[in-house]
Amino acid sequence: MTDVPTYPHADVVLCPGGPLLLRGKHVIEDSSGELHETTRRVTALCRCDKSAKKPWCDGTHKLLPEKLTPS
Ligand code: FES
Repeated sequence: MTDVPTYPHADVVLCPGGPLLLRGKHVIEDSSGELHETTRRVTALCRCDKSAKKPWCDGTHKLLPEKLTPS
């Protein structure tokens, strides 16, 4: 059995009303099948579907009425 490393934080965080945060290196496949390799320590993925930079969060979720924000 291999040892599972423990980290002081989760690698994936769902922000209530906002993006999905990914920590570490990942490859994201967007809705058109294009692959995007992450280059930052933390990456925010849009969950509200209103970002102008999808698949990335651009902060637009902060402008939406509460009923349109992701849960
Ligand atoms: S979650 Fe931030 S713009 Fe969509």
